[in-house]
Amino acid sequence: IPNTVQAYRASLLHFTDDPLHNVQGMQWHEDGLLIIQDGRVLAAGDYAQLKHSLPEGSSIAHFPGKIIMPGFIDSHIHYPQTDMIASPAPGLLPWLEKYTFPTERQFQNPEHAAEVASFFVDELLRCGTTTAMVYCTVHPESVDAFFGESEKRNLRMVAGKVLMDRNCPEFLRDTPESGARDTEALIQKWHKRGRQLYAITPRFAPTSSEAQLQLAGELAQKYPDTFMQTHVAENKDECKWARELFPQARSYLDIYDRYGLMRERAMFAHCIWLDDTDRRRMAETQSAVSLCATSNLFLGSGLFDFPRAQEAGVPLSMATDVGGGTSFSMLQTMNETYKVARMGGTYLPAARMFYLATLGGARSMKLEGTIGNFATGAEADFILLDPQATPLLARRSARTDSVEELLFALALLGDDRTIAATYAAGKLVHERK
Ligand code: GUN
Ligand code: ZN
Repeated sequence: IPNTVQAYRASLLHFTDDPLHNVQGMQWHEDGLLIIQDGRVLAAGDYAQLKHSLPEGSSIAHFPGKIIMPGFIDSHIHYPQTDMIASPAPGLLPWLEKYTFPTERQFQNPEHAAEVASFFVDELLRCGTTTAMVYCTVHPESVDAFFGESEKRNLRMVAGKVLMDRNCPEFLRDTPESGARDTEALIQKWHKRGRQLYAITPRFAPTSSEAQLQLAGELAQKYPDTFMQTHVAENKDECKWARELFPQARSYLDIYDRYGLMRERAMFAHCIWLDDTDRRRMAETQSAVSLCATSNLFLGSGLFDFPRAQEAGVPLSMATDVGGGTSFSMLQTMNETYKVARMGGTYLPAARMFYLATLGGARSMKLEGTIGNFATGAEADFILLDPQATPLLARRSARTDSVEELLFALALLGDDRTIAATYAAGKLVHERK
């Protein structure tokens, strides 16, 4: 092995399968070693076994008491909503009118977009999130600002220009033709440039005409390795509105299906008010759910139905949905996801939550092997968790009797302070001071 090798020693956690279906899916090495070369994983496992494979004289960064794991994957977040997080409203639609649309208007200014994108990416990294599926605004410049920032730091990010041509303020509208033209130009500019990936992004059915959804679907078919992201069945008033606007569709989700927007790499946020036919269709098409617990509780949208989604075999991932969500931290998001599941009668073990926030997200996005775990050759996006980050966490973690209990305490008590360091493609991109 040549000398470009880096090695990190600590406890090591990652997943090779969903612990719901496979008890061996979680890999835990109490004294573990992660070996990296040229930004990719060379090996991950027990220190005692792997130390022999290191070249003579290699230095090992040792972090006793800490946990190395893959960076978090946030499958749904709005970077332009950073500055309006924690804005109160009696529900989704008034919240969009009063805060979201005026805030997004500012992104016609590329300097403003660049400044927010830089803060936003800092905040993701502080929280240990190394990949996110990101909404920009209707302005193509907002996409350039975001990908520019992500590229500067060599992050694996997915993002797209919002498509909306009706039922929103005039100043935020595109047209079916301009939206499709801008989207195609942005795909050509950014998709697979370095680590950047493009997502075709119709905001949600109520703000797109039939012509716009038709063109979005055609792009989704023409560029099958791009992503698609939208919102569905989040809020009862929104569902009623969507059904009125598209009376010919069988259900809200079916609107997207009719335009060819259900496929692999399609990410549907919320999915609260689906029926069993919808869930079956999601599983058949391998469209994924993005679970947005803090947002759904904050906006009073509803409780995601774990038992039915799991029974249908729908790909699941976790997300913050900032600014509807109330935290950038995937640990705080686990905390609230746990409680939502509990309310619906499901017990979510910590192992499952950490799976959903890493490999589950990668699988939902068809990026397994690239991100989400420490498979050989995967991109070395990883974080260091500190179970001693706060006095309370230190006290509680000292009294845990199993890995599951320790991870559970981290999920329920952890936040940005728990992230001691974040690495992207093998390089340090955040260190807690
Ligand atoms: N539905 C349409 N747009 C949005 C948005 O910006 N946030 C949330 N939570 N739901 C939406
Ligand atoms: Zn959203």
